[in-house]
This record gives sequence, structure tokens and C-alpha cells, in this order.
Amino acid sequence: MNILVIGSGGREHTIVWSLNKSDKVSKLYCAPGNAGIAQIAECVPIGVFQFDELVAFAKEASIDLVFVGPDDPLAQGIVDAFEAAGIPAFGPNKAAAEIEGSKIFMKDLLKKYNIPTAKYETFTDFESALTYLKAQDLPIVIKADGLAAGKGVTVAASFEEAEEALRSIMVEKVFGDAGNQVVIEEFLAGQEMSILAFVDGETVKSMVPAQDHKPIFDGDKGPNTGGMGTYTPLPHIQQSIIDEAIENIIIPTAKAMVSEGRPFRGVLFAGLMITKDGPKTIEFNARMGDPETQVVLPRLKTDLLEIVLAAMNGTLANLEIEWNNDAAVCVVIASEGYPANYPKGKVITGLETAEAKGALVFHAGTAMQDGQFVTNGGRVLGVVGLGENIQAARAHAYDAVASIQFEGMQSRTDIAMKALV
Ligand code: AMP
Ligand code: GLY
Repeated sequence: MNILVIGSGGREHTIVWSLNKSDKVSKLYCAPGNAGIAQIAECVPIGVFQFDELVAFAKEASIDLVFVGPDDPLAQGIVDAFEAAGIPAFGPNKAAAEIEGSKIFMKDLLKKYNIPTAKYETFTDFESALTYLKAQDLPIVIKADGLAAGKGVTVAASFEEAEEALRSIMVEKVFGDAGNQVVIEEFLAGQEMSILAFVDGETVKSMVPAQDHKPIFDGDKGPNTGGMGTYTPLPHIQQSIIDEAIENIIIPTAKAMVSEGRPFRGVLFAGLMITKDGPKTIEFNARMGDPETQVVLPRLKTDLLEIVLAAMNGTLANLEIEWNNDAAVCVVIASEGYPANYPKGKVITGLETAEAKGALVFHAGTAMQDGQFVTNGGRVLGVVGLGENIQAARAHAYDAVASIQFEGMQSRTDIAMKALV
């Protein structure tokens, strides 16, 4: 089969790497891809929002299946565009992707079907939001309704901080139309956990759980990023809690989407908080996580393409998906200044040494310049160490990270420490 993966980050590098192991794949393409992806797939210089050009390319290259990585094109209907042209595409259509594209849609869905999530109210008007805010306990969470590149959420410790977040979303419109509505929600205390699942309508096949590290600095300090590191498994979280999250949150949500006439086909990603009252939903994403994918797919024993084809054919329920017992730890290496402004074009060295140590080096923001790998994004690389337990995988990842150099590089030193205390 000829496969086209859409996207250009570390998640897409990992998806391409995993698909490349399948003997059913004859040719792999990625649009637009990056310098790491170019080592195993043919990169096509078409952007993720150029639906007409992507469809034209898919026809010309006789693409049998498209795998969509990122959220924005899903929310804008990329799967609908491929399907209208008769090209099978794995990912939710526009109506189903709204579970990530609108936080209010997601919250109202969960409320209607009694699925555990934080209490909330929604507002379109700044003054009413402020009046409501004054009566709430702290901390409190303020969220822009639409997609905001992972930056639309503020966990406010003080009233002033919450007011400032509301003002920047609703009055200054820093996220544009994504901030036409806001959600003000109850703060949930606890450990976070990400569970991704292959979903085909009512059928849910969950993946191994992972934990992300969103703030830029050690000790969860500083502003939120797209994710600075992940690990799996979660030895400090009981299997019964993981099962409860799948039974009480992910399966009912897939069923609710069917009942609403928006059956979800693709990867459904639940961001969860393990509270003293059990797991509760923080968010749903309509795609694989980045960098969750970098640790989850290396543990997949079943052929990824076989799973995707089963989901496309409606036979996912009959497929047994197998995982290995490895631990995997991903340390993200980012550019100086990220998550704010950062330079590009810094020469990266030591990639081969890191790979020679057995680590998986997934490229996120890289380009090739005069025969050298250079930085080309905020998050540059995801370095994955593997081992028989978290301690070994962590040591493996950090040993590989130590081989890699570029000017101004930053990474957290405490990825996966939560599993060891
Ligand atoms: P999101 O962009 O929705 O993933 O939110 C970003 C981060 O904000 C999450 O990973 C949590 O750490 C935090 N967060 C979001 N909602 C809540 C909540 N209701 N209670 C506590 N933390 C939250
Ligand atoms: N790592 C979090 C996300 O992909 O949304």
C-alpha cells in the first residue's frame, strides 16, 4: 500500500517510523515532513491546510491510505476532503473532531452523558464572566473555547491572574475567534495521565497509558509547552484506576459521539486527572499526542497499519492488539526561548552517537541545510530511551541526550521522576 502521513512533528516521525515496519507498506510519503522523516519517507512540500493540493497529490501518487497527525487540519475537515475524493483517511471527520476543536462542545457532551469532568460554566460576554469569577474559589481554570496551540488554558492561583486571562482571551482576543467563548472550570487536584485509544464508532481499543510534562522547566515550573517529555508505563498508578478511566470515560464518550450522530473514527486521546473521587476528564484530543506517541508506539507489537485498516473497515472489535513490556522515556530537546520566540538554523551534532547508543531519536523541528541537520522549530527532537523499567529507560534516554548538541538547547532533567518517588 502507498501511505501518506500528514504533519511535520515528532508525532509524525514516530507514526512514519512505526508504519515503516509493516510489510504491507510499499511506499511512504509525508506532507510536509521534516529532516528526520525524510530519512525513511519521501517528504512532499505541501502544507497541512492545502487540502486541494494534498488530494491532487494523493490521486497522482495512488495513495491507498492517509494518516492525519495534527489537530488543526482535522478540525478544518481534512478527512472530509479526502473522503469526498474517494481516498480513505484515518482520523475523525470535521463533525467528530469538534470534541477537540470546541471545549464547550466537549464539556456539554460530557455533562449530557454524565461522564466525569470538572464543573464549569461558559461565557460569551466578558462582564458576565467576571461577575461569575468573583464568586468562585481559587485556584480556578480559564479556557478559550477553540484551538490555541496548547496555550489557551490558564490555571490561575489568584483572582488577578484569572481576570487577566479572561481579558486577554475575550477583550484583547489574543487567540482570535478561538476566544469568542470561554469556559471557567473547577480546578482538579491530582496526577495527570494520558490514555490514547484507537476508536471506530463504539469500539474502543486503548493504548498503554502515558504521562506528559507540559511546563517548560523542572519541577513543573514556567509556562506550558506542547509537552517536554513523556513516559510509559505508569508503575505508580494502579491498573484499576486506568481501567476505571477507560470504562467510565473513554468508552462512554465514544458511545455518546455515536448517539449524537458524530461517530468518531481515529485516535481519541483523553487527558485525565486522577482525583480523590476517581479519574476525571480534563480534555479530549482527536488525534495522537505529541510527545505521547513517541513512547507509546515503540511499545506496540501489532502492526500499526493492520490496526488502522481494521478501524477503517469496521473490524477493530475483532483485533487483539499486543504491547511489549518495555518502559519508554522521551526527553524533548527544545530551542532557546521556547515556548516563546526562538532562533532557527542552529547546527545539531551527535545524532548518530545518540542512535548508536540504541536510543530512538525522533525529529520534531529539524531541517537539512548544506548536508547538516539544523533546528527549525521550538521543539526540536524527542529522544526515547528504552529499558526493562522506568529507571533504566530514563538513564538510557538521558545518556543519549548528553551526546546531542546545538546552541541554546534546553531540556528538562526530571522527566519520569514522578514514577520513581
Ligand atoms: P489542556 O490544554 O486542556 O491540556 O490544559 C493544559 C493543562 O492545564 C493540563 O494539562 C492541566 O495540567 C491543566 N488543567 C486544565 N484543566 C484543569 C483543571 N480543571 N484542573 C487542573 N488543571 C487543569
Ligand atoms: N502532549 C499533549 C498533546 O499532544 O496535546
